Amino acid sequence: MKPNLAIYIHWPFCKSKCPYCDFNSHVTNSVNHEQWRKSYLKEISYFEDDIKQHNISSIFFGGGTPTLMEPETAESIISHLQTITNFNNDIEITLEGNPTSVEADKLENFKLAGVNRVSLGVQSLNASDLKFLGREHSSLEAIKAVETAQRIFDNYSFDLIYARPEQTLKDWETELTQALKIAGNHLSLYQLTIEKGTRFFSDYSKGAFKIPDEDLAADFYLLTREIMEAHGMPAYEVSNHAKPGFESRHNMSYWHYDDYLGIGPGAHGRITKNGNKHAMMMSHKPEIWLDNVAKNNHSIQTDMLLDMDNVKDELVMMGLRVREGISRKRFVNIIGCDIEEAIPSAKIDKLRTNHLIELDEVGLRCTDKGMLLVNFIAAELL
Ligand SMILES: C[S@@+](CC[C@H](N)C(=O)[O-])C[C@H]1O[C@@H](n2cnc3c(N)ncnc32)[C@H](O)[C@@H]1O
Ligand code: SF4
Repeated sequence: MKPNLAIYIHWPFCKSKCPYCDFNSHVTNSVNHEQWRKSYLKEISYFEDDIKQHNISSIFFGGGTPTLMEPETAESIISHLQTITNFNNDIEITLEGNPTSVEADKLENFKLAGVNRVSLGVQSLNASDLKFLGREHSSLEAIKAVETAQRIFDNYSFDLIYARPEQTLKDWETELTQALKIAGNHLSLYQLTIEKGTRFFSDYSKGAFKIPDEDLAADFYLLTREIMEAHGMPAYEVSNHAKPGFESRHNMSYWHYDDYLGIGPGAHGRITKNGNKHAMMMSHKPEIWLDNVAKNNHSIQTDMLLDMDNVKDELVMMGLRVREGISRKRFVNIIGCDIEEAIPSAKIDKLRTNHLIELDEVGLRCTDKGMLLVNFIAAELL
């Protein structure tokens, strides 16, 4: 059977740049949609042979703000992939977007284009926090956009950012409870992080605002897990919550370390060729990506062969993020030996004694307490 392949398409434009965001997103006055459409198709064609060696299991339009794309672009990409390798109609095809009224009005057309899941960046339901986060929509507009998504799609999700300056645990509980009233089967809940290179980074460094300290941040995290669990949407990953069976298949591919192909500016990919994992990255800047695709049919900036140590590191870092962890079977399939042979027992024992990880006949995973420290745990194990 052919291995699965998740396809990621990066749309790099937004209406404005949010002060916390370090994603590859740019603000521009004009986008030549025709040129972008053709360039995506060209870069996809360049990977035709690799795509044919796989079964496409999901497509994800991420950004930036892909709801600003013309629905015809999504349609052309989906049909092009369908002609390269006939995939089942029930694969997950997600579109990320902002919850403004203009974008909500386009959702029907995205559905006609083949999209069957949307993920909207609501971020907050509180007016002053939306302003602080530099968002272009009001909470009412966001709620209406979520209701539109709910009407059109069986599968929809939205994002909220918590642990914001001045936010109390009680505030968050009230806001999350309100959000759950309009939630479907999936919610992504991120703690505000201060990323280098963002406006928040310089404001925060100058002391313009404070964010919760480590202990309060941990309380926010545990409260979030508790509320979501009680609502039947437990965390299946550090920041992602779903009713059983509604976990994002696309994101699960990353965490399971399946192959994925990234198309568009700055997109990353991991593709197995002749038994070796390649790490690929496309040129970051939109205009350079367009130029390279016009000249070479692709815009690969780096294509690096990963050795077994790199593969093990990535598998552990990604796999520990999910509740189920890394199964023994998957570990042996990818690394070629048992977990105990690849990771020194002293490292495992230390984390086990501190109740941060579990290792049993099924596999290796973080405990609830460990999930809070997943990056530290991965670093310790590796
Ligand atoms: C590509 S954006 C989502 C789509 C859309 N552009 C939007 O903003 O609504 C991905 C998500 O990452 C989260 N995010 C980005 N930067 C973050 C940060 N510094 N801290 C916490 N969450 C962040 C936001 O929730 C955002 O919705
Ligand atoms: S959070 Fe979304 S809308 Fe804001 S800059 Fe980032 S990608 Fe764009």
